[in-house]
Amino acid sequence: MKSKDARLKHKGFFISFEGGEGAGKSTQIRHLVEFFKSHKIPVELTLEPGGTKIGQKIRELLLDPKHTALSHRAELLLYLADRAQHVEELIVPALKAGKVVITDRYADSSNVYQGLCRKLGLKSTIQLNQYATQGLYPDIAIVLDLPVSAAFARMRQRTLDRMEREKATFHQKVRKGFLLLSQKYPKRIQVVNAHRSEEEVRLEIQDLVTRRICQSKENSFWKKIKQ
Ligand code: TYD
Repeated sequence: MKSKDARLKHKGFFISFEGGEGAGKSTQIRHLVEFFKSHKIPVELTLEPGGTKIGQKIRELLLDPKHTALSHRAELLLYLADRAQHVEELIVPALKAGKVVITDRYADSSNVYQGLCRKLGLKSTIQLNQYATQGLYPDIAIVLDLPVSAAFARMRQRTLDRMEREKATFHQKVRKGFLLLSQKYPKRIQVVNAHRSEEEVRLEIQDLVTRRICQSKENSFWKKIKQ
């Protein structure tokens, strides 16, 4: 129940995964989903952009490498439109149903990619995120942090989308941006060093999430985890 808005009160737990490209988010998200399932905790896995049907259309617009003419402001507004739909249609109902919601990217990505890297301003993206999310922020945002050279080595095999085609300097700014944001919100945003083995990263994330759930008095997931 992070939001002051009574309409958003819930008994769920909301987790976002953030970070630059190629940091191993998908793998670690899979591990965390399995962790909750093994404790019989209902979990909803989703992503941005593209967590809803409407969002999938917005995702196509955003990530198509042909769309080089997309302006920075239009880019931000499309990410926010996707988020507004995502929050209303999927995230809030799942949290109200008492589930753990894990999203692959959320509001902090707009703060970093558009606010800091595209230089639209952190103040603006924070305000606009507030509007798009109705003030719903994750209970914990996990930033997987990896040096850009290591991330590029991991990405070499893939076909790159419009954002991934940005130069290395952009990706450096993304990395710095997430670190800066984590200093601004040290409780909500937890940085995890992703330049380690999959298993080490998995265990640290599991530990961070478990501790945060046990600190929160608003849901009973901790009872299932302790069993
Ligand atoms: P995606 O294919 O989901 O990649 P990743 O595995 O990196 O999450 O691509 C999403 C891209 O959109 C990614 O480059 C980050 C970017 N993005 C923003 O720039 N702003 C945002 O608000 C969000 C949610 C994503």
